[in-house]
Amino acid sequence: MRIKTFEEYQVAYKQSVDDPEGFWAEVAQQFVWRKPWKKVLSWDFTEANIKWFEGGVMNITENALDRHLADKGDQVALIWESNDPEDKAISITYRVLFDQVCRFANVLKKHGVQKGDRVCIYLPMVPELSVAVLACARIGAIHSVVFGGFSAKSIADRINDAECTMVITSDGAFRGNKVIPMKATVDEALVQCDTVKHVIVMTRTRTPVSMLKGRDLWWEDEVKLVDSVCAAEPMDAEDILFILYTSGSTGKPKGVVHTCGGYMIFAAYTFTNVFQYEPGEIHFCTADIGWITGHSYIVYGPLCCGATSVIFEGVPTYPDASRFWKIIEKHKVNILYTAPTAIRSLMSFGLDYVNGHDLSSLTKLGSVGEPINEEAWHWYKTNIGADDCPLVDTWWQTETGGIMISPLAGITPEKPTFASLPLPGIQPVLVDESGNEIEGNGVSGNLCIKFPWPGIIRTTYGDHERAKQTYFSAYPGMYFTGDGCLRDEDGYYRITGRVDDVLNVSGHRIGTAEVENAINMHLGVVESAVVGYPHDIKGQGIYAYVIAEKSVHDPEMFKKDIAATVSRIIGPIAKPDKVQFVTGLPKTRSGKIMRRILKKISEGDVNNLGDTSTLLDPAVVDDIKKGAL
Ligand code: WTA
Repeated sequence: MRIKTFEEYQVAYKQSVDDPEGFWAEVAQQFVWRKPWKKVLSWDFTEANIKWFEGGVMNITENALDRHLADKGDQVALIWESNDPEDKAISITYRVLFDQVCRFANVLKKHGVQKGDRVCIYLPMVPELSVAVLACARIGAIHSVVFGGFSAKSIADRINDAECTMVITSDGAFRGNKVIPMKATVDEALVQCDTVKHVIVMTRTRTPVSMLKGRDLWWEDEVKLVDSVCAAEPMDAEDILFILYTSGSTGKPKGVVHTCGGYMIFAAYTFTNVFQYEPGEIHFCTADIGWITGHSYIVYGPLCCGATSVIFEGVPTYPDASRFWKIIEKHKVNILYTAPTAIRSLMSFGLDYVNGHDLSSLTKLGSVGEPINEEAWHWYKTNIGADDCPLVDTWWQTETGGIMISPLAGITPEKPTFASLPLPGIQPVLVDESGNEIEGNGVSGNLCIKFPWPGIIRTTYGDHERAKQTYFSAYPGMYFTGDGCLRDEDGYYRITGRVDDVLNVSGHRIGTAEVENAINMHLGVVESAVVGYPHDIKGQGIYAYVIAEKSVHDPEMFKKDIAATVSRIIGPIAKPDKVQFVTGLPKTRSGKIMRRILKKISEGDVNNLGDTSTLLDPAVVDDIKKGAL
């Protein structure tokens, strides 16, 4: 399954394009199947119907756990590093993880969870999060992990959309020097949800919680009441494995659906190849399991490859900005996979925090989540990788299930800030505004993919039409990524950022419409418009233009109140960085806000606003310019 040279990559790539079914069938054969598939691939991008390995019967946990027991039972599967550096780290072997997953799967079953039921998981980065995810997969329940930073309302929306019957959470969470309530937030959410029958609560912070009789259960008690034998549920390759909500340019977040067989193969294949994973290596992905990066490269990808994966509960700057480097030294981490925003943040603290730590165990570095700027790329490569570790800039999305465009570590020649070349099986194309494919090199356009790969999104939960509209209608016959992209003279790809109304703030995907809706809910707000502006650390910051009902007497206080509202409606990650009060917004005669103008103003580029003659009231623009922050 692993490509070892650039020539092998070229051969594999060609084979994957000439004969995609043969190529992926060969990869799939290296996994455990209860029953072989009947058909490798059937697809129709017009209807957004894509099926891989149909008729094949399997369970991803047999691939992630059972099959390693014979020869890797005593190897460490997960290393857990607590928020508090003084706490002892926990190492969990494959055998112990298997036991914990089976036990917890039995707890779920005992409380009525069946194949196909949806389970919402809202937990901090503790080993139990991986256990809960895998326990769902074991019995064929569909997990929907919600990132711990989301508000009660966001949890409720996600629970209701998927009609979850169970929630798994903790009393609280430790994050840096803060203790964050989790169960209380779930309780607030559940006031709006009537499908949930049980809540399982694990103890983490010993924060007092209310436990409702008949509904709420303690994790620690429940696992004692069941045994550890739990046969894996036979799953069709196209049965749903999980739902993960992500933001788009319009409306509410949508539930991206991934299925069992294709996702498994794609997560594992990309993990092995991009990181050139060698048996015994320690892999540290710093993402949260609440995002796709954590699903694919903390849980499923590494475990399906029998790797050792680090789970870190805390933040890179607690107790200070040397935490990552201390973890690398302590656990002799070989692969570090993190986000540009973390690198830029740590870079800003200076090298004193890096120096003096033994980072010599590192063999490979990775970046994900947003475009990496030249300065951060070099700082990472030189100061963390000692100019000796390959650095892979991996481009992909929640919807793609796994890495799509990336160097293979140490194999593909690197170019700073370029995600470089497509992985075998991935056929990127650049298209112009009218949907024509732009051929040749040295060109830019919107990035589409013209052929399915096993990890592609299957639908948006409960609303197939939305998936069709969002991904397959802009450019008929292709999957549209929402990203702009450049292909240089050598055919290397560089992702330039979203071309739709999606922001990327510290690597988190946030829709401008979502933030606007939240701001508009605040008392005294008439209307708002949100754009992204360049931010040194976060990549993009959130700039909100707000029309208030009355004249604003205490703008600072009003801004804080707006931030509190956004935190409450979405979560703290969506709080605006800048709020400018305006008397009007630049609208066309048909009432459409001209974001292009607002974006320029937020970037400080006020002298190049372009044509404003189609505006209903061009004078508005001068006022906004004057008050720009
Ligand atoms: C952006 C995260 C440039 C991109 C895995 C994409 C990147 C969105 C990169 C998906 C990269 C991700 N270079 N941009 N290496 N990786 N992106 O769904 O805009 O949270 O569309 O998935 O992040 O974000 P998501």
